[in-house]
Amino acid sequence: MKKPILIIVFLTLWIGFSTARELRSPDGNLFLKFTVESDGTPIYSLKYKDMTVIAPSSMGFELAKTEAGLSSLHNGFSIVSHSIGSFDETWEPVWGEEKQIRNRYNEMTVTLRQEETGRIMDIKFRLFDDGLGFRYEFPEQPGLVYFVIGEELTRFAMAGDHTAFWIPGDYDTQEYDYTTSRLSEIRHLSEAEITKQPHASQTPFSPTGVQTALQMKTEDGLYINIHEAALVNYSCMYLDLDDENFVFTSHLVPDAQGYKGYMQTPCTTPWRTVIVSDDARDILASRLTLNLNEPCKLEDTSWIRPIKYMGVWWEMITGMSTWSYTDDFLSVQLGHTDYLSARPNGRHGANTDNVIKYIDFAADNGFDAVLVEGWNIGWEDWSGHSKDYVFDFITPYPDFDLELIRDYAASKGIEMMMHHETSSSVRNYERHLDKAYRFMADNGYRSVKSGYVGDIIPRGEHHYGQWMVNHYLHAVEKAAGYKIMVNAHEAVRPTGLCRTYPNLIGNESARGTEFQAFGGNKPNHTTVLPFTRLIGGPMDYTPGIFEMDISRYNPDNHSRSNTTIANQLSLYVTMYSPLQMAADIPETYARFPDAFRFIRDVAVDWEESRYIEAEPGQYVTIARKEKDGERWFAGSTNGAEGRTSVMPLDYLEPGITYLATVYSDTPESDYRTNPQAYIIKEYIVNEKSVLEQYCAPGGGYAVSIIPYNGNTKGYKKLK
Ligand code: NOJ
Ligand code: CA
Repeated sequence: MKKPILIIVFLTLWIGFSTARELRSPDGNLFLKFTVESDGTPIYSLKYKDMTVIAPSSMGFELAKTEAGLSSLHNGFSIVSHSIGSFDETWEPVWGEEKQIRNRYNEMTVTLRQEETGRIMDIKFRLFDDGLGFRYEFPEQPGLVYFVIGEELTRFAMAGDHTAFWIPGDYDTQEYDYTTSRLSEIRHLSEAEITKQPHASQTPFSPTGVQTALQMKTEDGLYINIHEAALVNYSCMYLDLDDENFVFTSHLVPDAQGYKGYMQTPCTTPWRTVIVSDDARDILASRLTLNLNEPCKLEDTSWIRPIKYMGVWWEMITGMSTWSYTDDFLSVQLGHTDYLSARPNGRHGANTDNVIKYIDFAADNGFDAVLVEGWNIGWEDWSGHSKDYVFDFITPYPDFDLELIRDYAASKGIEMMMHHETSSSVRNYERHLDKAYRFMADNGYRSVKSGYVGDIIPRGEHHYGQWMVNHYLHAVEKAAGYKIMVNAHEAVRPTGLCRTYPNLIGNESARGTEFQAFGGNKPNHTTVLPFTRLIGGPMDYTPGIFEMDISRYNPDNHSRSNTTIANQLSLYVTMYSPLQMAADIPETYARFPDAFRFIRDVAVDWEESRYIEAEPGQYVTIARKEKDGERWFAGSTNGAEGRTSVMPLDYLEPGITYLATVYSDTPESDYRTNPQAYIIKEYIVNEKSVLEQYCAPGGGYAVSIIPYNGNTKGYKKLK
C-alpha cells in the first residue's frame, strides 16, 4: 500500500460543561449537534443545508448480564470533555472505482461519564462532505471490563414519511427483492415480502424491521442512506421503525441465547453511517464507508488482482445439470463412501469434459479464471439436513479429474477458481479450513467462492450475528496467509472491510442473478442495488445472462430473467465489482458473439468513475476509465419504464478522437416481450459529443469508447 499523500491533523481539547457541542463538515453543508438531555441521555442531530436529516435522536445501550441497577448505558451521562480535529489524506486502494480516494473529515470525540457508575463512554463523530460516521468507544477502565449487550439503542429520527427502498429484517437472508414504499407502508407490505422469500431460515424480528444499507428519499429531494462501516467483532445492525413517529432504532442480531454482543474494554462499535445529498449521484460517488475502515493490513498485496471469470454454474442454478454426482441421499460419511460404486445421475455438471469446454471458451475469450461448483463430494446431502460433517473440501467426485483439469487450465493461461459451499456447517468449515486452503495453494487455486446456504451450525446462531461476523473475517484473514482471494456468498453484507483486507474481493450478500432462475428479480432491482448493497462494497452479482427464457435450459423451470441483453451488458459498468462473471453458458454466448464482445472487452479495474445519471429504483448511468489505460466504458441500467438517457461525453480527453461502440436496446426491446433484441452502433466521438440513447423497460445500454486513429469516413458522428 502507498503511504497517504497528505495528512493534516490538528486537535483542540475543550474541558467544558454539559452544553451542546457542534461540528460542521469541511464544505460546511453538514451540521452536527450533540448534547445530553437533563436525565443524561446523549442526543445527536444532523442537518444538510438547513434541512433536517436526523432529528434529535438518543444514543446508548441496554446491557445484559450486569449487576442489578447497572444495566443501562443510555442515560445518567454528563460530558467530561470533547476534542475536535480535522483529517485529510489521499490513499490508493489495491483495486476500486478510482485510483485515488480522498478521505477528508472533521472529527469530534465526546467523552461521557455515567455519574452513578463512573463508567466512561466516548462517542466519536466524523463529518465528511458526503455524510456522517459515528461510533461508540469504550476505553479500558476498572468499572467496565467485560460486558454483554442486551441491545444497542442508537436512534435515527427521520423528519417525515420518506420514500424508502427496503428489504425486511431477516437474520438469515438478505436475498430479497427491494420494495419501494413510504416508511408508513412498511408494516403492511413486509409480511408479503417475507412470504415470497423461498429460504427456509427466515427469522424476521419485527413487522417494521429493515436491513441496511437503507436508501431513502425525502419530499424535499434529499437522499439519505443509513448503513454501517467496519463491522468487526460485533453483530450486524438492523433498524426497527416506530412508524408513527418515523424513528428507527438499531437492532442487533442476537446469538443463540438472545444476547447481542460480548465486549471487553478497550473496544469500539462499528461506525454508524448516514450518507446524504440532494443529488442521488453523490450517494453512488461516496467513499465514506471505505474511508471509515482501517487502512490495508496486508503488507504484500501484489498477488491480489481483479478477475473476469466464467463458471460451471448457471447450468446448475437453472436445473440443467446438478451439483451432486448421484441422485441418492447417501448418508455420506466422508472417508468411507465409495463413490466409485455409486450410481451417477448422468447430469453432473462438474465432469471433466464439461469443465474443459468452459476452460477452452474462457481462454479463447481472454478470461482470467473458471469457477467449478459441485466438484467435491458431499453435495448429495448438502442442504436442508443440518448435517455437521458434510464436506471435506478436498475430495473430488470420480468424474472430476483434478490434476488433468489443473494442468490443462494452466496450459491455457486460465486459473481455476475454487468453490467451498459450507452448507452453513461453519464448525465443519473451520475444522477443514487450513487443509482446504493448503490444498488450493498446492493446486494453483488463488481465489475461492464460499457459500453459506442453510441454517448455521452451531445451531441457533444466525448468519449475521457476532459469531458469524467473526467467522467471515477469520476466513478472509486466514486466506490472506495463503495468498487466497475470497468471494463469500450469503455472508454478512459488506461494510467496507475490503479496504483493510483487499483479498476480500467480493461478496454476494443480496439477491443476485441466481434469482432470475428462481422466479425472477424485479426489473428495477439493479437500479436499487448500487444505492443499498453496494454502499458496503462490491457484489458478485454475476451478470451476463443472454437467454432470458430459463425453460430453454430446463423444461421444468419456467422462470424468466427480467432484463434485456443490453441491460445485462450495462451491469458490467454500473454494478461495480473487481470480480466480474460472464454467468451464462458458452453455447448461449456463441449465439450472440457480437453482444458478447462487450463482456470480452470491458475492464474490471478503474482509474476514475463518473456518475452521469441516477435515481434509485429508476436508472443509473456511469462511465469509468480503465486503470492504466485510455479506454472508457459506460453503462446505463434502466428500471421498469422506458426512457431516454442523455450522456455528455465531456469526461473524454480533449483533442482526442475516440470510437464509441454502443450496445443498446432497439425501439422494440422490452424485458417482458422482446428481451433479446439489441443493436450495436459505432460512432466517432470526442469530448463535445452527447449520447442520447433510448432505454427499454428493463433495458439499458453499454458503451466502449476507445482512442481511434483510423479513417473516420463512413462513421456517423454524434451531434
Ligand atoms: C448459493 C450461491 O449464491 C450460488 O451462487 C451457489 O451456486 C449456490 N449457493 C451453491 O453453493
Ligand atoms: Ca445466494
